[in-house]
Amino acid sequence: MWFEGEGYGKAILIGEHFVVHGARGIGIGIPLKTVVRVRRAPSLAFSFQCGDLLKEATGRILERVAGDADFEVRVESGLPAGAGVGWSASYCVALARAAGKAAGKGMGDAEAAEIAFEGEKVFHGNPSGIDNALASHGGALLFRKGERPEAVALGGKFHFVIANSGKKGPTRELVEMVSSFREGKPEEYGAMEEAEGWLVEKALEALRKGDAEALGRVMDNNNELLARLGLSTPKIEEIRGIALGEGALGAKITGAGGGGCVLILAPDAAKAREIAGKLGDFGAFSFTL
Ligand code: MEV
Repeated sequence: MWFEGEGYGKAILIGEHFVVHGARGIGIGIPLKTVVRVRRAPSLAFSFQCGDLLKEATGRILERVAGDADFEVRVESGLPAGAGVGWSASYCVALARAAGKAAGKGMGDAEAAEIAFEGEKVFHGNPSGIDNALASHGGALLFRKGERPEAVALGGKFHFVIANSGKKGPTRELVEMVSSFREGKPEEYGAMEEAEGWLVEKALEALRKGDAEALGRVMDNNNELLARLGLSTPKIEEIRGIALGEGALGAKITGAGGGGCVLILAPDAAKAREIAGKLGDFGAFSFTL
């Protein structure tokens, strides 16, 4: 008998990397999901190609939830892997939920996020926990490492586009790169962290009021900070240029950067679809929150 679980994709609206070092950040669940199915088997088996990290993360989660890892695992996902939209976190959350059902255990969002964090540590070394929180809860979340994430009530609809600039560097290495920057240039990093904190305040205000123009400006400002940390690429800036030229309100790196996805905010759903169409070569899609 197969047991199934789901996890959301995620996009970070404000604060990637800064959240690793204890700052607040805001993320959103995106309506592309990963579905994992598990059934009892003589030993751990996968019906898809997977690397060592995925095997280790899967084993840890299954053992934690079901007491052993003797399962066959299947996965289907609408999310691109390695693009900064939370494939690994959505997989870990979906697996935790599927394993919970197989073990006859009920599992709330907070518990699924907490178990998935064990898998995220295998993939990313020093994750903040924002990806697994978003993959489990969805919606818009205010996040600070080690604290319970807070749902943000939206004062209106926000229309997003996500475009993929191509394969990004491993999250683990990008996180280490920013950590080295922080250690090597503490004053510069401190000033940037302060600016990021201010952007989180502005973004919260914009989300709560339904003010998309203000949110777009905050996203652009956040991108400037991330570019200063060395996380932008010519392709990311090309996508931003196209989107802003077509009338987007803001556009930014989302996730670890160094390639991967760009999060774009449009003034309305029709414009979001139009921008996604212009960015068709970058696998763009639009959605409303
Ligand atoms: C990755 O989606 C977000 C980072 O801030 C890492 C993390 O928070 O674990 C880069």
